[in-house]
Amino acid sequence: MKRIKKWALLGLLMASALAAQARSLDAVRKDGKIVIATEGQFAPFNFFQGAKLSGFEIELAELVAKKMGVGIEWKALSFDALFAGLGQDRWDLVIASHGITDERAKAVTFADPHYCSGGVIVSLDPAIHRVPDLKGKVIAVQTGSAYLDNIKKLSGVKDVKNFPQDTDARGALINHRVDAWVTDKFVVVAAMAASPNAGLKLGDFLFVERIAAAVAKGNASLAKGYNDGLAAVMADGSYASLSKKYFHEDVRCH
Ligand code: ARG
Repeated sequence: MKRIKKWALLGLLMASALAAQARSLDAVRKDGKIVIATEGQFAPFNFFQGAKLSGFEIELAELVAKKMGVGIEWKALSFDALFAGLGQDRWDLVIASHGITDERAKAVTFADPHYCSGGVIVSLDPAIHRVPDLKGKVIAVQTGSAYLDNIKKLSGVKDVKNFPQDTDARGALINHRVDAWVTDKFVVVAAMAASPNAGLKLGDFLFVERIAAAVAKGNASLAKGYNDGLAAVMADGSYASLSKKYFHEDVRCH
């Protein structure tokens, strides 16, 4: 009896050790599907069209997964949960417009970038469009974003208001609760197209960044499998046509 208990305990320990192991490319292929997490509140990159995830990153991941020979099981979570869940092996990959930073690279392994863009200044007041114009101003940004990190580097900003969702940061600007919103250039272009009467004014870049998907820290085989798939869609014209569909230009990094 005692022996059986011991073995059962050992089995449990081994099972939990295995469960906490990031899945290799082989394991994902054997399963036939990759579990990908995104946010779903960052149009036009990842957003909900009704109940369905949609956007440039969603469609791009579908193209890449096809090259990898696997299907996708999508998960949608709040932005701040995405990288934490990678560390706990709750999903295999995250694609949610994360800019590559040294700080983030301590916690995850970034794939090759799938687009280049940057944070821009958005306001309702045409007098707030350059970086020096942010002096003495109140700025809205998404919590945990590269926009927040880059605003913190500026001196003289009056206040930074954080919002769990970028759409709420936009709402704060539209409702005149802040002087400016900093977000991705293409997010602004899409917001201006969706609400042409909101009075949003697109200002200068605050910084530029390379955006990439990520896997659990050290999961080199899955990163390589994804990178090979990404390279293939970048080479065969499917990336270019998807990019033109969303942005009327090719947004890959050069
Ligand atoms: N590119 C910015 C960053 O790296 C913003 C990403 C926001 N993504 C999102 N799904 N809301 O922090």
